Amino acid sequence: TPAPLTDTAPLPDPASGAPFAERARHLPFPFTANSYRYSANVEPAPGRVDTDAGHWGENIIDIDCDYRCDLAERAEILARDPSRCQTLAHMRPAVWDVIETLLPIMAADYPEMMAFYRDGLNCSWRNDLLGLELEFVIGDDSSLGMDPLVFIGGQIQDDIALLDARDGALWLDAGSVTFAADWCLGFDVGMRFTEIHGPVPRVHEERIVSRAEQFLLRLQPGDNFRRTNWTMTVDRRLDTSTDSYPEWGADRRLVLLDPALPDRLHLRVEVQHLIRLPRTGTVLFLVRSYLVSLTEIATVPAWRRRLGQVLAELPADMAEYKGIDRYRASASAWLLGS
Ligand code: HEM
Repeated sequence: TPAPLTDTAPLPDPASGAPFAERARHLPFPFTANSYRYSANVEPAPGRVDTDAGHWGENIIDIDCDYRCDLAERAEILARDPSRCQTLAHMRPAVWDVIETLLPIMAADYPEMMAFYRDGLNCSWRNDLLGLELEFVIGDDSSLGMDPLVFIGGQIQDDIALLDARDGALWLDAGSVTFAADWCLGFDVGMRFTEIHGPVPRVHEERIVSRAEQFLLRLQPGDNFRRTNWTMTVDRRLDTSTDSYPEWGADRRLVLLDPALPDRLHLRVEVQHLIRLPRTGTVLFLVRSYLVSLTEIATVPAWRRRLGQVLAELPADMAEYKGIDRYRASASAWLLGS
């Protein structure tokens, strides 16, 4: 029989880490203290945040060195599994609202590589990063030559969820979600905000979910907010959807046997934008996922200590929910050099 897995595998010294990575420079490092608990933690967006390694947050849509690679991965996933992108019939106007809202923002933030012009319903869009020049008519799906949600999901690295506001609640009625952290759109589509958060520990007793829903329902058209969330992922794997669990689930256990654990374990940070769309009043929820290995984190001493302490202190129910319970002690010990 194989030896039982322990959480004390010998690990390499963090001092021998990789050179400072561009990814770490713009990482939205999510911890402001040496312990972490759930909270609504929303703030107006955009807004620059300086960190110990650089800065983030200047733009709602963040385009970085992984842009083409992430979008190619999304296209592959959608070709394999179309259920990752779904639009309930009543949400088609909301999808066009997303297109009308985001393309001008991107053109304004990245004028050297993107341009958007609009005359009435007639629009043109240029995206040099993808070699794309396109003319289309707002509301006319055939003018895009593809599903409008697949189109806009092909322009931004973020996953997209669209929440319809009705009967005093929010309903997840459309989305393009290829990079979910251990959930999946196919299961959640059509569900209420409170149901979606059903599996999350603590947030119901602490009334975080009900307060968050009330906050989102009160957003005014054009309001933009954001929050961060985090977990950990084995390897640079964006697709940790429950749909693909058989591909990545066992790694959470097997990684403990791997001496390359600090290179393989990644802090996964999500920057989530919450935007009330101007035309339809739909809540647009964007989730941008960043992955940085422990080796990269360790190049910033303040982060190395802080993440090490957060992982050591995190309550068991939260670690289990995040799926990091098997390896968090090893990760923490490596980061803290003990
Ligand atoms: C998970 C809070 C908005 C979908 C979570 C978690 C928290 C949370 C604390 C657990 C995260 C973890 O430990 O990794 C909030 C708050 C929000 C918000 C405070 C707004 C202010 C949204 C929105 C959606 C959403 C708009 C839209 C679909 C999810 C999903 C999960 C999740 C799918 C994973 C649930 C699962 O395990 O199946 N949320 N959330 N959240 N949230 Fe939210």
